[in-house]
Amino acid sequence: MSPLARLAIGVVLLLGGFGAWWFLFGKPSTQVVRGPDVAATKAWQSSQQCKDCHQAVWEEWYGSHHQIAYLNREVRLQSEDFRQKECQACHLPQPVSVTGFGQRTLARQTRPNEGVGCITCHLGANGEVLSRNTRPELPCRPVRNEQFLSMDQCQSCHNQHYTTDQWRASQFAAQGTTCNDCHMPEVERHLASGEIVTGRAHVFPGAHDIASLRAAGRFDVGVEGGELVLALENVGAGHNFPTEERHRAVDMMYRFVPASGEPGDWQLAFRFRQPYRDEPGENTQLPSGERHEERIAVPADVVAVQARLWYRLMPIFDDADPRSTLLFEREVQIP
Ligand code: HEC
Ligand code: HEC
Ligand code: HEC
Ligand code: HEC
Ligand code: HEC
Repeated sequence: MSPLARLAIGVVLLLGGFGAWWFLFGKPSTQVVRGPDVAATKAWQSSQQCKDCHQAVWEEWYGSHHQIAYLNREVRLQSEDFRQKECQACHLPQPVSVTGFGQRTLARQTRPNEGVGCITCHLGANGEVLSRNTRPELPCRPVRNEQFLSMDQCQSCHNQHYTTDQWRASQFAAQGTTCNDCHMPEVERHLASGEIVTGRAHVFPGAHDIASLRAAGRFDVGVEGGELVLALENVGAGHNFPTEERHRAVDMMYRFVPASGEPGDWQLAFRFRQPYRDEPGENTQLPSGERHEERIAVPADVVAVQARLWYRLMPIFDDADPRSTLLFEREVQIP
């Protein structure tokens, strides 16, 4: 074969090889748009995709109120199984980055069992995974994003009843303690490599967690100058106590024990609550750092007083309802 023919074959092979490479890898990717979800046009579409590599985070999130947001029985009852369409915007939301951090989210129509999921919080506007650190070497190529880390993220869904505004007005905001400092405590993560690193818990405890509820308030009961003194101080919540849902109520209750021994009926000393829109009355939620005191005259024949602090998921629930939680119980003898 002549050198020229060899060259020609070489060029053909080279071009063919390049063509094959171009065909396999060089084509600009065309992604299929399925349904109205913006997330569906990206590679990251479902929390399921994160599960295998982030098992521990998955297990914390799974069963949390974020995960059950659309399946939650209480929500389904009150939204008439989401026939009230406006309820879907936060209970089955598109990613926060679609409308922007701090802006109200839009409803999606897919993955009902993922409620507020990995994709909702972590998916960036360009399809990237948002995080604390930029680490292109990792399979999910996380990218640092300040707004993702800030309370703007939470504000998209948690300011309908002014929880983020309450936080802004609190001493916690002034000292730089954010939502996540309390709601995403640090945890140990055991990586596949055997390395142990610090992560952030994804349980988001709140009104359904007795330890969080007990941490919110200090309940003081005493007798002074013939008066029963009941006081609640919001020492641990970075917002009002209770906060958010207008259903939530905190009740200070008491009853007197006479010398005969048989205690009287429980009496309501004060209810901390934000009334429904069509209900008369002021917002009596207890702001962060504040103390509220009630004084009640003690009748003559009384030998002791019992006091209780209740948290109710709805104001109509009585003491026997499992949706009422007894936070503190005290008894004071009267000398
Ligand atoms: C193929 C495995 C894999 C998949 C799938 C994956 N990740 Fe990761 N990701 C990792 C590894 C490995 C690390 C580093 C170790 C760690 O932090 O667990 C990591 C780290 C992270 C970090 C912390 C980065 C930092 O240091 O700031 C975030 C946030 C994250 N991933 C989110 C996600 C989300 C959300 C998804 C699903 C949309 C996802 N990842 C899917 C493997 C994966
Ligand atoms: C702006 C976002 C947003 C919209 C819109 C919204 N919710 Fe919610 N909802 C939340 C957040 C955030 C919580 C968690 C805070 C809380 O539990 O107090 C919540 C909690 C609830 C709970 C308490 C669940 C439980 O287990 O105790 C019920 C019930 C509920 N929502 C019903 C509804 C109904 C009904 C609608 C429509 C009329 C609706 N929500 C619309 C954000 C929203
Ligand atoms: C896309 C909307 C959305 C975003 C963003 C969001 N949440 Fe939520 N969150 C909800 C909804 C909806 C619920 C209540 C779901 C239910 O109970 O059915 C909830 C529940 C909670 C609860 C538990 C309340 C309870 O009753 O137990 C806490 C705590 C919480 N969120 C904190 C946060 C924090 C902190 C952030 C910011 C990192 C955040 N959330 C971001 C929508 C959101
Ligand atoms: C200093 C710690 C602290 C900070 C900061 C804090 N919280 Fe809380 N949060 C609590 C405690 C304690 C509770 C339980 C008592 C209560 O419900 O108020 C709670 C309860 C909640 C609940 C449950 C309300 C309900 O009715 O289900 C939500 C939602 C919530 N916080 C969201 C937020 C958001 C959003 C921020 C930031 C804007 C924030 N928290 C900042 C400590 C904190
Ligand atoms: C309500 C919003 C929200 C949801 C839902 C959520 N994350 Fe996160 N996640 C965050 C925030 C905010 C941080 C950063 C905390 C920090 O570093 O301050 C974070 C941190 C992480 C980290 C790094 C820290 C650690 O603990 O390892 C990983 C990995 C992660 N998320 C994965 C996931 C996965 C997987 C899911 C779904 C199973 C998920 N996240 C759901 C908000 C969320």
